[in-house]
Amino acid sequence: MISATEDEPLHVLDLPQVYEKPSGTELMKTLALLTQQPRTFGVSAEAVKGPAVHPAGVNRYLTQIIASPLSWLDTDELREAVWDAAAARLSERSGRTAMPAMSRVFSVPTSSGKDLTLTLHEPSLTSDNLGMKTWVSSYLLSRRLHSLLESPPSLVPSGPTDPSVAQADSQNKLRALELGSGTGLVGLAFAALHGKTATTHLTDLSEIVPNLEHNRALNVELLTNTEAKVTTGVLDWSVVPEPQPTAEERFDVILAADPLYSPKHPAWLVQTVGTWLSRGLDARVVAEMPLRDAYLPQVQEFRQRMTDLGLAIVEEGQETGYDDWEGADGDVLAVKCWWSIWGWSEKVWPLS
Ligand SMILES: C[S@@+](CC[C@H](N)C(=O)[O-])C[C@H]1O[C@@H](n2cnc3c(N)ncnc32)[C@H](O)[C@@H]1O
Repeated sequence: MISATEDEPLHVLDLPQVYEKPSGTELMKTLALLTQQPRTFGVSAEAVKGPAVHPAGVNRYLTQIIASPLSWLDTDELREAVWDAAAARLSERSGRTAMPAMSRVFSVPTSSGKDLTLTLHEPSLTSDNLGMKTWVSSYLLSRRLHSLLESPPSLVPSGPTDPSVAQADSQNKLRALELGSGTGLVGLAFAALHGKTATTHLTDLSEIVPNLEHNRALNVELLTNTEAKVTTGVLDWSVVPEPQPTAEERFDVILAADPLYSPKHPAWLVQTVGTWLSRGLDARVVAEMPLRDAYLPQVQEFRQRMTDLGLAIVEEGQETGYDDWEGADGDVLAVKCWWSIWGWSEKVWPLS
């Protein structure tokens, strides 16, 4: 029986070879060993487990299985299962965009020390549907959300001081909007952390929203237990709403993770923030994005446009996460991310 130790991955030549005519069971076990699990976005490189099999030669090994007639196996069903598993392992190695659909579990810390658990469905990706995957900056932001709730100035809406009055009156709930929610990690975590004190509206493009809604439904137990109020809907940043939202329709908090990957995004995103953010001094934009070289000009433009709109940074920082997919050489990919919290600058306040 083949096995790998944590420190010493197997070599591809240790695996059963096609010319040896291994049994179907042996092949299926080997192919299971070659599964590339999504990484856990660990916050330290050490926490990320290495591969069970050294990546060198694995693609060739898989191609040999797919090309073989597997004539020594007993049934067509077994042959199909082996070919399917080998093809799946090969597509996993072709990059994240070729990965099959999967459900993933995320832990979100709370201020009580007990983590919340969210399950998110990620359909198989196509290159133009980036919202079908959960990205590293949303993972980092979801883990930071509980501490943002405590850091001054508070993100609690101004309203009656008697909590029972605040709970009874939906006008006094914190209204949160997530832009470009993707699979919904940040928005769902925010909603669960705030429970009945907030309503959270998760939004994205029309092709992404069905999976977002699916993920809301997948987490109904957590959302019910925490009395969270979540809605989902389409909100395209490139469309300016007519008429403009009223003061009651605007949001106290706008959340966005990894929203910039096209030259048009900074202008669209900031315009959307300007449209939907409440005009109060307590209003906040909470954003986190990777500092990838190719997108640094967009991050810079976002910063400038937010400032031009009259927003100022209340708090900011950088942190490193580890992407959930290893690079071609099997290395863990460290991603530096920038988080920022914005409020209206007193210089421009009060706004109309
Ligand atoms: C890189 S993904 C990030 C998704 C999620 N926030 C995360 O971090 O896992 C960017 C998201 O922005 C959305 N997006 C891109 N252009 C958009 C637009 N014009 N209006 C609304 N959402 C848009 C995409 O559909 C996608 O879900």
